[in-house]
Amino acid sequence: DGLTIAAIGIEVNVDYLSVVAVDLLERDLLTRHIAFDARSAGADACAHRIADAVRAVVADPALSHRSVIGLSVAVPGLVDSPGGIVTRAPNLAWRGTPLRSLLEELLHDAAPSPIPVLVDNDANLGAVAEYRGGHLARTGDLVYITGEVGIGAGLLMNGELLRGSAGFAGEIGHVRMVEDGPACGCGRRGCLEALAGIESILRAALPDRFPAGALTRADLADLVETAVDRAAAEEPTAVEALHTAGTWLGRGAAMLVNLVNPAAVVLGGYFVPLAPWLLPSCRSGVRELAFAPDAGGCFVETSSLGLSAAARGGAVAMVDALESGRLPLP
Ligand code: BGC
Ligand code: NA
Ligand code: ZN
Repeated sequence: DGLTIAAIGIEVNVDYLSVVAVDLLERDLLTRHIAFDARSAGADACAHRIADAVRAVVADPALSHRSVIGLSVAVPGLVDSPGGIVTRAPNLAWRGTPLRSLLEELLHDAAPSPIPVLVDNDANLGAVAEYRGGHLARTGDLVYITGEVGIGAGLLMNGELLRGSAGFAGEIGHVRMVEDGPACGCGRRGCLEALAGIESILRAALPDRFPAGALTRADLADLVETAVDRAAAEEPTAVEALHTAGTWLGRGAAMLVNLVNPAAVVLGGYFVPLAPWLLPSCRSGVRELAFAPDAGGCFVETSSLGLSAAARGGAVAMVDALESGRLPLP
């Protein structure tokens, strides 16, 4: 009986872990948001923290009597999904991290039978979640752009993720927008995420909160709220910073529109609370730069799934894997 199973999705981003468990009908059994500075922790400590979160989910009364069919982990970087390896996560400073085998090892006794682990890119799994359960559900051609410290895209074409030859398709955050622009976490300069990622937005919107350029990632969520408050109060520095970031975002989104012609572009992550001030300039940027703005593909919306989108998409991907026979029944 399918209702006795649970699939777990966890997103590890730069400043939080998001945890979701769903049943076979993709209904939420549990969601959790945990502030966590993954970069300072390092890959090993992060794997331990994920494993602890999984044990807590397995023990949660919301999952009582259910068998866990698998765990999906969404990460902010390039993922060799078949190998379960994080090839490169620029804002975590991870390279070649064998996340799946680390977790399988740590979780070997967490459930009666071993929990299969799947690793994928955060934006890819955000796109899956949006397609399956967001307010744009069943839009088979959509681009999901996640606004975290980095910016990534999940390209969903005809209901399937477009992955590319090594799984890295959609890395819009590292497209160079300006020569000699601000430094990016990837080591280059002028990348889209160095101009419109959440850290650079906050630096520009709240200059008084970043004295010597120092930034503590544990505070990002609070700082986003401060930016929202100031923009809502029409504080000019905050409003201007968001307008500028929206313009960059529109330029980046227009490139994706010209490349893959989605029915919709969906902004997720921290872009959602900031949308009232980002969207106008983002939308006009897309209309201005898309090749044929009246021929479709220029619909820009925000995600209804908030910071749990990628975790949710991962859990849903696990249900798919079970239903298609790619996963054993527990
Ligand atoms: C990474 C992407 C990721 C994005 C959002 C970028 O820096 O390269 O893989 O999707 O950040 O977390
Ligand atoms: Na991606
Ligand atoms: Zn970059």
